[in-house]
Amino acid sequence: MKNFERKSDGKLYADGIAINDLAKQYGTPLYIYSQKTLTDNFNGFNKAADGVEHLVCYAVKANSNLAILGLMAKLGAGFDIVSGGELARVVEAGGDPKKVVYSGVAKSVAEIEYALNLGILCFNVESEAELERINEVAKSLNKKAPISVRVNPDVDAGTHPYISTGLKTNKFGVPIERAFLLYKHATTLSNIEIKGIDCHIGSQLTSLQPFSDALDRILLLIDRLEKENIKLHHIDVGGGLGVVYKDEVPPTPEAYMDNFKAKLKGRNLVLVCEPGRAMVANAGVLVAKCEYTKAGEVRDFCIVDTAMNDMIRPSLYSAWMNIEEADRSLTRDEHVYDIVGPICETGDFLGKERNLKVASGDYLVMFGAGAYGFAMSSNYNSRVRAAEVMVKDDKSKIIRDREELKDLWNHEHKFEEL
Ligand code: LLP
Repeated sequence: MKNFERKSDGKLYADGIAINDLAKQYGTPLYIYSQKTLTDNFNGFNKAADGVEHLVCYAVKANSNLAILGLMAKLGAGFDIVSGGELARVVEAGGDPKKVVYSGVAKSVAEIEYALNLGILCFNVESEAELERINEVAKSLNKKAPISVRVNPDVDAGTHPYISTGLKTNKFGVPIERAFLLYKHATTLSNIEIKGIDCHIGSQLTSLQPFSDALDRILLLIDRLEKENIKLHHIDVGGGLGVVYKDEVPPTPEAYMDNFKAKLKGRNLVLVCEPGRAMVANAGVLVAKCEYTKAGEVRDFCIVDTAMNDMIRPSLYSAWMNIEEADRSLTRDEHVYDIVGPICETGDFLGKERNLKVASGDYLVMFGAGAYGFAMSSNYNSRVRAAEVMVKDDKSKIIRDREELKDLWNHEHKFEEL
């Protein structure tokens, strides 16, 4: 995590600024993102795909802050979206709708209209019924809708069951045999233009094998489609490349891309991918302040001001996220702590059984928080959502204000007798 480093003074830095100082300036809970890491991550991915025509579509769901989307757009990214809201964010941030691919199983009529009017690159169709709906909506707008079928290749991604998407028991995509029939049917629809083929088998994959297995199955399908004279312009291999939270050894973007490039050799297909986590996870940290320490019967608690509403990954997926003291120059006794938040649920924890030297008022830093952190945050227990800042060298800029109390009941109405 090169832009979040501990220096010889014992303090963790975000680029050139001590995280302690940022925490004091902006308050906690605080998300801090490194512009340099974001830039390096995107450029690294993009460069790894060199040698074939390609488009890296950043998966907006991982972190949809306008400043991050704006940076990605400036770097040349396309976007993978799953809702009209994400499309609106891309447009607001200055992204190009013509570089947008639209996944998701439940696209509404209004969302399809919105995307068609903006002229997106492709709809990743997830069912027979959705294809019919897209055709009907396109007809009503007198447009042709560009589509890929999202194929569910029935491959085990070997990841957490909640984030595995390419098994036949999952709600996503269309099984291979039915996808073949769906393509043939699509050729008969007046307002559909077949553009490509798509697949996303899961998230936080740490081995290339499932990607290869899925692609092999899809290539066989592409061959069958070609025999039917159905020609594709691009192949969208989805997202899913894992990152290091603890001791995982995920493939590098180069190895990940080389694998696809080798398999796609000789085929005239544009390579589209939809990375989310690998773009942003290690570009962000979440800073919490220790409110109290509390001795427990079995182990001690470090009670912080940051909770599962700010970062739900440990509670929801039992995800292990690295947590360190922001300043190790302080003299503190070491204890084994469960790091827990203020929310009234036993499931509200950020980490368990961690050796830490911490006292009330000290800051703790959670790494790998740039992906699926703020994006999954909520107001549960009427907690205002965290502030977000971007750093570069010794400069920092707020990219989302901390919510205020009145934001909690914005859109609500006081009781009135009916
Ligand atoms: N494309 C599609 C269609 C997806 O559903 C996803 C993620 C991605 C791309 C990006 O995948 P990535 O490169 O980030 O693995 N909240 C969970 C992760 C959920 C991922 C959902 N889909 C977590 O915190 O681990």
